[in-house]
Amino acid sequence: MNNKNIQDIFSGRFIVLDGPDGCGKSTHAKLLIQWLKEQGVSTIGFRDPGDTEIGEKIRQILLSPEHDAMDTRTELLLYMAARAQLWAEKIAPALEANQCIVLDRWLSSTCAYQGCAGGFGMDKVIKIATDCLERVWPDLTIILNVDLQTASQRLNRQLDRMEQKGDSYHQKVREGFLQLAKQQENFLTVDAKGDIETVHNKILQLISEASFIPLKGSKFPRVK
Ligand code: TMP
Repeated sequence: MNNKNIQDIFSGRFIVLDGPDGCGKSTHAKLLIQWLKEQGVSTIGFRDPGDTEIGEKIRQILLSPEHDAMDTRTELLLYMAARAQLWAEKIAPALEANQCIVLDRWLSSTCAYQGCAGGFGMDKVIKIATDCLERVWPDLTIILNVDLQTASQRLNRQLDRMEQKGDSYHQKVREGFLQLAKQQENFLTVDAKGDIETVHNKILQLISEASFIPLKGSKFPRVK
């Protein structure tokens, strides 16, 4: 792919990096954004939940260990609320301006955490999202797959409320992501166990093989 092709392919695209806590998606989202910018693609990154005034407040409520009484349904609705705001305030205008959007988490997380690990049900999460989000699925979701042990070694800091939920919860989160990647279109999975450079190169390779986003008759159609 030359730069012109890359610009054509990625402008106005909505790409998500997602996976279990400790999978490295925030690092890889930053590296992907940097790479896209180097190729001349106008690119902007956001984190979900967050990146709006309302979304950051919701994020604090969700992640504060003080709120250990929070029910899965409350979590689900708060994550969805922060996402709706992020869409309206930031993502929709950026897509409108034909920028490439790289998101650190999206609905795939609600499916894996609240839907699968929390027991609410992934199908029900998707149903709610379909009713309340303007756009449900990105052009491409890359799931960073990492085992529990590697992930928890990477989380060597004070854990937030979601990270504190214990091994069996987080095992189910991982299973949820893998299940979702099998059942949804436009999902790719990357083995994220290696060092940063190795994983970054794998992501770039996937993206470059990406004739992955042909513009017509695409497996990754532009859905607006
Ligand atoms: P982050 O620290 O990766 O930004 O994510 C915040 C935490 O929230 C992380 O533990 C995953 C969790 N989460 C959910 O449980 N459901 C969701 O829908 C999202 C977006 C995140």
